[in-house]
Amino acid sequence: MKQIKSNTDTSDGWFKDNVESYSQLINTYRSRMKSVINREEDSAVIRHRSRGKFDARSRIELLTDENTPFLELSVLAAFGQYDEQFPSAGIITGIGKIHGKMCMIIANDATVKGGTYISETVKKHLRGQEIALKNNLPCVYLVDSGGIFLPEQSRIFPDHDGFGRIFYNQSQMSAAGIPQISIVMGSCTAGGAYVPAMSDETIIVKNQGTIFIGGPPLVKAATGEEVTAEELGGAFVHTRISGVADHLAENEIDAIRICRNIFELIPQNDSQHFENVSIEEPLYDPFELYGLAPIDLKKPVNIYEIIARIADGSKFEEFKQYYGETIITGYSRILGLPVGIIANNGFLTSEASLKGAHFIEICNFRKIPILFLQNISGFIVGKKYEHEGIARNGAKLIHAVATAVVPKITVIFGGSFGAGNYAMAGRAYNPDFLFMWPSSKIGVMGGQQAQQVLKSIKGNTLDRNSNLINQFEEESSAYFSTSRLWDDGIIDPVDTRKIVGLAISIASNKKCPEPKNGIFRM
Ligand code: COA
Repeated sequence: MKQIKSNTDTSDGWFKDNVESYSQLINTYRSRMKSVINREEDSAVIRHRSRGKFDARSRIELLTDENTPFLELSVLAAFGQYDEQFPSAGIITGIGKIHGKMCMIIANDATVKGGTYISETVKKHLRGQEIALKNNLPCVYLVDSGGIFLPEQSRIFPDHDGFGRIFYNQSQMSAAGIPQISIVMGSCTAGGAYVPAMSDETIIVKNQGTIFIGGPPLVKAATGEEVTAEELGGAFVHTRISGVADHLAENEIDAIRICRNIFELIPQNDSQHFENVSIEEPLYDPFELYGLAPIDLKKPVNIYEIIARIADGSKFEEFKQYYGETIITGYSRILGLPVGIIANNGFLTSEASLKGAHFIEICNFRKIPILFLQNISGFIVGKKYEHEGIARNGAKLIHAVATAVVPKITVIFGGSFGAGNYAMAGRAYNPDFLFMWPSSKIGVMGGQQAQQVLKSIKGNTLDRNSNLINQFEEESSAYFSTSRLWDDGIIDPVDTRKIVGLAISIASNKKCPEPKNGIFRM
C-alpha cells in the first residue's frame, strides 16, 4: 500500500496556533468528562459507598477481564441539561470482555437520583441493547434503579421508544439467541423488575437486591398491607420462594464471580473473519492531529494529513484518486484490521457521490468495514448541478450507505451539515458506531445561512429578535449532540485510531450478510 507523505511543517506558526487552541478545547473536554466520572465529593456517592456498595464503573471494572479495554459509550449523555443532576444520564453502558468474550454491559448508577430513568437514560439503555443485538453481544445488566424518574414520566413512559421498549428488546434479543444475565445489586422496582425477570439468568445480592412490581409504599396505599422491602422482594424471597432470581450472592464480589463463571460456558460468537495483520504505528504522531483538526470550519482541511495520523503505517491505497476529488476513498488498515476509508474533501458533487457509492459496493463484496470521516457542509447547490442530476446521484450514495452490509463506523471530525450528514453515514443511517471530535459541529445548516434563508422567506415580517445564529451555534455543538445521544460519544482525536480499531473488532462479532446485488459501475 502507498504511504502518505505528510507535507505539514509542525514548526509553522499556523500549526502551533492550532495546537494551542485545540489544547484548550481538549482541556474543556477533559474537565467535562472528569466532572461526570469523578464525583468523590457528591453526597450521594459518599452515602452509596458507606452502604458498602461499589460504584457502577468499579463494578464494571471488577466484572471485565483484567487489562482489557472497556469502550464506554455516551459518557456525556444529559450533559448541560437537568441542572447537571444526571451525570452520564445515570447509566453506564459499554463493551468489554468477560472470559475473553465481548459483551455489552448496562449498569445503573444508583448515585444519580436512585438510578432512575429520564429520557436520555432510556435512550442510552436502548442504544446499548441495539448494539448488542446488531453485533450478537451477550448482555449483562447491573441493576440498581428506582425505575422511572417520576417528574419526567410523560416524556419516557408510553411511547414507541419509551421505558417499555427495554423489555421488548430483551424478548427480541433472547429470540435472537443473545444471552442476557442480570445482577441485582439494589432496587429493581415496578417496570424495572422486568429487567431481571426477563433475563436468562439472574443473580441477586443478599440483603441488598430487591425486585418488586410495587414497592412497600405502593402496596400499603393499594391494599393496606404493611411489608418491608426485604419481605416483599429480597434475595431470600426470590431465590427460595418466588423463583424470580436464580443465584444467591453473598455480596457484590460474589455476584460478579458467579456472573463471570456463567460466562465461562457461554459459547464464543460465530464471528466475521476480517483478515488481521500485525499492527504498524502511523508514521506521524497522532498528537499532531491537534494542529490539523478543524476549529474554524470554513478553512479547508487536508484530509490526507488526518488519515496519515490514524492509519497503520500511514498507508492508504487510494481508489479513483483523480475523479470526484471532493470525496476521498481508499483502502487502509487500523490496528491491523482492514478498512475502507470514505472522507470528505469539500462539497458532495455528482461525481463524488458516484465514486462513494461505487467504493461502498466494493467494500460490501470484499467484506471490508467502512470508516466515514465526516467534514461535510452538504451537497453542492446551483442550477448547473441540479440540471446534471445532483439529487439523483446523491440518492445513489445515500442508498449505498443505507444498505451497506459491512460494519460502518462514523467519525465526525469537522462539520456535519444538511444531507451531507445522511450521505456520510449520520446517525439515521445506522452506523455501528458514531463518534465526534470535541470541535465538530452538527446541524441542518450553519446559523448564518439559516438566518439568511428565513430572512429571504419572511422578509420584513421576520421577528427582529429572532437570532438563529446563536441558537444554531449552541444546538450544533458536539456537546449538545452527545447530551441527546445523537452519537456514541465525544472522543479525543488522539484516541480515534484505538477506538475505531476497537469498534471494528466489536462489529466482527456478527457475520456480515451477503450483498443483494452485484457491483453497479456508476
Ligand atoms: N422518581 C423521582 N425521584 C426519585 C425516584 C423516582 N422514582 N426514586 C428516587 N428518587 C430520588 C429521591 O427523591 C432522591 O432525590 P434527592 O437526591 O433530590 O433527594 C434521590 O432519588 C435518591 O433517592 P433516595 O430514596 O434518597 O435514595 P436511596 O438510595 O435510599 O433509595 C430507591 C433509592 C430507588 C430505593 C428509593 O428512592 C425508592 O424506592 N424510590 C422509589 C421507587 C419507585 O417506587 N419507583 C416507581 C417508579 S416506576
